[in-house]
Amino acid sequence: MENNRESFKSKFGVIAAAAGSAIGLGNIYRFPCVVGENGGSAFFIIYLIIVLFLGLPLIVSEFVIGRRAQKSPVGAFKKLAPDKKGWSLIGYIGVIGAFLILSFYTTVAAWTLDSVYRALTNAYDGKDLATIQTDFNGLLNNTWRTIIFEAIFMFITAYIIIRGIEKGIEKYSKILMPVLFVILIVLCVKSVTLPGAGDGLSFFLKPDFSKITGRVIVQALGQAFFSLSIGMGVLITYGSYIAKNDNLASSSLMVALFDTLIATLAGIIIFPAAFSFGIKPEAGASLAFTTLPMIFQQMNGGYFFCLIFFILLAIAALTSSISLLEAPVAYFKDELKMSRKKATIITAVLVFGLCIISGLSLQDDSPLKLFGMSIFNALDAFTANILMTVGGLLTVIFLGWKVRKSDFNDEFTNGGSVNMKLKNIFYFIIKFIAPLAIATILVSQLLK
Ligand code: TRP
Repeated sequence: MENNRESFKSKFGVIAAAAGSAIGLGNIYRFPCVVGENGGSAFFIIYLIIVLFLGLPLIVSEFVIGRRAQKSPVGAFKKLAPDKKGWSLIGYIGVIGAFLILSFYTTVAAWTLDSVYRALTNAYDGKDLATIQTDFNGLLNNTWRTIIFEAIFMFITAYIIIRGIEKGIEKYSKILMPVLFVILIVLCVKSVTLPGAGDGLSFFLKPDFSKITGRVIVQALGQAFFSLSIGMGVLITYGSYIAKNDNLASSSLMVALFDTLIATLAGIIIFPAAFSFGIKPEAGASLAFTTLPMIFQQMNGGYFFCLIFFILLAIAALTSSISLLEAPVAYFKDELKMSRKKATIITAVLVFGLCIISGLSLQDDSPLKLFGMSIFNALDAFTANILMTVGGLLTVIFLGWKVRKSDFNDEFTNGGSVNMKLKNIFYFIIKFIAPLAIATILVSQLLK
């Protein structure tokens, strides 16, 4: 096996990069949205079960495939199953999926930048909830303001990819993400001590099994895959950079743990505060973008905390969007032999075009609809609930049924030196449980 491939220098490097991809707007913006729309605690329990029994094995699977093949997705599938070229389809799903995700992700990132701007100019100061909500709605309906922030975010993402300086960003985020974590803890304390916070806390954490429905399970699976960056081959690429003596199971566990911890903190912050201020849990995007500024307003040093928080959230979004943009760029570069710069510019321009449409589709009375939803919501639902699920399903089938078991064992245990006991449990889940569970959820959704 060739060993000249660039690799992460330390265990922390792997975890930081994969966690950088995983932790992003999915945790702070999307997680509260889907929890709120799906009844709260029931959703959260299913979510945790899915992260543990499907999410974690899928992270392991992608890492195993990537490190075994020493290639990014399309090439990895070709290499591990040379007689069956069709499997590289999973690689293509990733390329298309990453492209579509970026198109609405950039819109949410634009709202984050807008929040940075508002925080900086002290625009939240002294405003009541109604005004902050009206302002946020105003942003959704303000074509130019949205497009400009989308353009800034897309430009920064593309610039980093062209210059190949992701590693530099990761170095900073190793310092910055712990700061984000500390601010989240401070926010938690503030939020749960607000008047009436208890109702929000029980909405999020007090189990009510009667609310579990097929829809809740589908949404939880989609959110888990989205949040962990699974099913699009992004982690296969990262896996190909992991050092051979690194413990894949424990690295995967750390990524899943950090990601879930941040999402949980977001829930503990947003629901108590939302209930306290009278924001409905189904409020969608305004959960994160109006609840949080309201909390900051009531804190000592709120101006400062609010500004730092939104800057860090934008950086968290950036480390995710970089991992997403890299997928189509690597494909154009490797398979179509384009230069990195050309590949990035073409992809970024295409993403930006679709991103403008996704942003505009949220305006009041916008005709930009698909399947009865705004194009923004359609892109979100199609990628999280269908593409990523299909990608994840094919990934476990590939690893469980196409790759030799001895290859899996060898890669998972680093040639027999670690995790000998865990290997059978993971293999069983990857081969039988995960394909069955994901396929059942997928089919139930398509039959609806
Ligand atoms: N996981 C990221 C988030 O929660 C989004 C993301 C980054 C992603 N890379 C991905 C989602 C790859 C799916 C696939 O914000």
